[in-house]
Amino acid sequence: MKSIALLGYGTVGSGVYEIIEKNLEDIKNKYNIDLKLNLILVSNLKKYSSHNEFNLFTNSIDVIKNASPDIVIEVMGGLHPAYEYVKYFLEHSKHVITANKDLIAEYGEELMNIAKHNNVSLMFEASVGGGIPILKPLKECLGGNNIESIAAIINGTTNFILSKMYDENMGYFEALKLAQDAGFAESDPTSDVEGLDASRKISILSSLAYSKKIDWKKIKTIGITDINLNDITNAKSKKHKIKLLAISKQNDGDVYLSVRPVFVHRSSSIGKIDNEFNGVVIDGDSVGNLMFYGKGAGKYPTASSIFGDLIAIMQNQVDNSNIKLSSDFNFIKNFPLKSK
Ligand code: NDP
Ligand code: HSE
Repeated sequence: MKSIALLGYGTVGSGVYEIIEKNLEDIKNKYNIDLKLNLILVSNLKKYSSHNEFNLFTNSIDVIKNASPDIVIEVMGGLHPAYEYVKYFLEHSKHVITANKDLIAEYGEELMNIAKHNNVSLMFEASVGGGIPILKPLKECLGGNNIESIAAIINGTTNFILSKMYDENMGYFEALKLAQDAGFAESDPTSDVEGLDASRKISILSSLAYSKKIDWKKIKTIGITDINLNDITNAKSKKHKIKLLAISKQNDGDVYLSVRPVFVHRSSSIGKIDNEFNGVVIDGDSVGNLMFYGKGAGKYPTASSIFGDLIAIMQNQVDNSNIKLSSDFNFIKNFPLKSK
């Protein structure tokens, strides 16, 4: 029997719970493993008093620590106390899965080292691109490539807002409210709309692609808060759309990174990515140009990635030894963007 503790039961946590419950039998048949979701950590216990399995809920991390689960899934968000909790469980030889890009962008290197030291896995596929499998292909399938560049729409909230403004002439704040109601936005959407979430994600992608530590705070970042309907009309008149694009390019050992709104032709592959969908275009010296596309935010797509990590842990497939989030690299230049 493998026991699981879920830290957080919001948009993503509730999706993870449902997918695990739905697939319990399948997992037993396929992998001959009994899984049990034993405990769920929330902050406001009262909110869940009418839940069918209220007995699973707790607002005390000590209850979870004492239960000593085999696998911990962190979907609380934020840096603290998520960092302290994840660190604790890794140090106590528990596998950890997280969707938390803030945590990975900030503490990924340290946490990965703790995981390696304790011979357990730290998995974070859901931290970039929501439901799109992107980290595993980058680390494994594309391992034989020198990655030359990455260009990505990797924030669902801003892409959703820009799409609503473009397609329906909707005001920025109304569109933001819809994104929040749909569960796409962070609890504080500042990190979405100011481009910080995309910066964290492109730093994670770039760290894995180039095996270099990238300090996301050094990335030149411009969000979408200054974009208004006049800008959208202007783009439309030129058959373009405005997209928040995260770009990273490696050249002669330097990495150029940038997150900012750019004009893209409406019929280009990036220009056709709308709503909460994300797209990641990767250029590798052997494989050429690849594009990964899918829902970049939302309950079930994100839970799908977490579930994939869970299966990988159960299959014992995870080898952290080739995951390098660090080096002495810290030189980041602004990538010179063109509007097309
Ligand atoms: P929510 O705000 O919907 O849910 C957060 C959950 O964590 C809630 O259940 C909350 O409890 C609980 N929680 C928060 N802080 C604490 C704390 N200090 N102690 C105990 N419980 C706590 O977040 P999301 O589900 O949207 O996001 C979770 C993580 O997944 C974040 O890191 C986010 O960036 C990431 N993510 C989100 C995606 C999305 O589409 N939403 C997509 C990809 C990644 P309570 O219910 O009592 O308030
Ligand atoms: N707030 C994030 C987004 C969630 O909108 O992309 C997925 O990481």
